[in-house]
Amino acid sequence: MKKTNDAVKVKRSSAGLGLFANQEFKKGDLVIEYTGETITEEEANIRGGRYLFELNNDWTIDGKGRENVARYINHSCRPNCYPELNEKETRVFIYAKRKITPGEELTYDYGKAYFKEMIEPFGCRCQKCSGSSIR
Ligand SMILES: C[S@@+](CC[C@H](N)C(=O)[O-])C[C@H]1O[C@@H](n2cnc3c(N)ncnc32)[C@H](O)[C@@H]1O
Ligand SMILES: [Zn+2]
Repeated sequence: MKKTNDAVKVKRSSAGLGLFANQEFKKGDLVIEYTGETITEEEANIRGGRYLFELNNDWTIDGKGRENVARYINHSCRPNCYPELNEKETRVFIYAKRKITPGEELTYDYGKAYFKEMIEPFGCRCQKCSGSSIR
């Protein structure tokens, strides 16, 4: 099981496991790609799960495989990263939203739909909402 590469590290955070910077990232740097099986919206609705990344109305990436290290990135309401799709809307890349220093937890905004269904009902544990270590 590959849990780390040179740039990032999986560690315990206040929302289960999280992904942390192992190096400095400058604003706009590519941090990591969110990878997995591309499945239809219908299949995504059947499978469910915490690791679905919706590409558009038709397609979703199921990033549940452990080789997808980006699956450990937690949500934050004040994130230091952001996801961006390629032009064909087939791949997801996570970029640094600002300068990130080694040891910081990497976070992005999961978006309204995911937040409402999967985070809000249990309480958001990001730093903005709880004062915890997630930024
Ligand atoms: C893609 S996973 C992130 C990695 C996860 N923490 C783990 O241990 O595998 C998404 C899940 O992590 C948890 N999570 C992520 N961000 C959170 C947050 N800000 N507050 C509470 N739970 C969060 C929720 O259970 C969510 O469904
Ligand atoms: Zn929050």
